[in-house]
Amino acid sequence: MKGFTSIAALSLAVSSVSAHFIFQQLSVGATKYDVFKYIRQNSNYNSPVTDLASNDLRCNVGASGTGTATVSVVAGSQFTFTLDTPVYHQGPVSVYMSKAPGAASDYDGSGAWFKIYDWGPTFSGSTSTWNMAGSYTFTIPSCIPSGDYLLRIQALGIHNPWPAGIPQFYISCAQISIASGGNTTPSPTALIPGAFKETDPGYTVNIYSNFLNYTVPGPAVFSCGSGGGSPAVTTTPTPATTTAAGTTTSKAVSTTFKTSTTSTLTTAKTSTTSVSTCALAKYAQCGGSGWTGCTVCASGSTCQKTNEYYSQCL
Ligand SMILES: *[C@@H]1O[C@H](CO)[C@@H](O)[C@H](O)[C@H]1NC(C)=O
Repeated sequence: MKGFTSIAALSLAVSSVSAHFIFQQLSVGATKYDVFKYIRQNSNYNSPVTDLASNDLRCNVGASGTGTATVSVVAGSQFTFTLDTPVYHQGPVSVYMSKAPGAASDYDGSGAWFKIYDWGPTFSGSTSTWNMAGSYTFTIPSCIPSGDYLLRIQALGIHNPWPAGIPQFYISCAQISIASGGNTTPSPTALIPGAFKETDPGYTVNIYSNFLNYTVPGPAVFSCGSGGGSPAVTTTPTPATTTAAGTTTSKAVSTTFKTSTTSTLTTAKTSTTSVSTCALAKYAQCGGSGWTGCTVCASGSTCQKTNEYYSQCL
């Protein structure tokens, strides 16, 4: 059935094969899973959703939990969404989550969504740069309750400025089941559809004309650091994290990171005698913008900076 669906979609959409992209593969930690194993498979090949009022904005066209497996993850784990071909329409990439009332595979995404990360543009004078990549890596917040969730990634293509052009939403949802979570209720939340409006500056902006600042559409980013989660207490400041906080990320998203990073550093400086309360396994995330988890690698590996957003025990 699944095979039939994708072949049918492929033949219908064959003329647009090179025009678009789809997030089709999930990794947890260093383990990369099969295409559409834990990601709900859409029926529109790699085409976008453009209707702001459509339920398809949740997880894409034809993407249901039927036939999709749910992956077990520990809160705080790193995950990656990999595309069929790298994002090449300018615009922000965001990750959202919504808790399922029961099993993730039964959930239609009609409940509250919160946002855990934005990849916005960086500005250098009048030049803007978007992070258009073949994969996007972030972490499950460590403080949110255990249970089943939809983990949703969205690339918003604003390359054809509104209103002459219609922004395009490229969406996929993974089904995850979180263990070892915390007690923090994430906020703010929004419903989908509803979270994105034709009046959002981040939706209507013309990125080719006098483009000097940008606000990513949707609710503000939730992070455990600012939302009442408890950052790990460590004795070792992580140089990679310090550097990341000092460099400019997206203007829209940098405030939260600086706050949480500062508190981590303060903790590190003042608790000089205590012993580390955490030790990460090899390949675990140990730092990066917004990281509020453990920053200490167990003996045998050291925390190494991969990029501004991600440091890993290697
Ligand atoms: C840029 O900043 C101005 C002033 O705060 C704001 O009105 C406008 O909506 C912003 N533009 C975008 C695209 O976010």
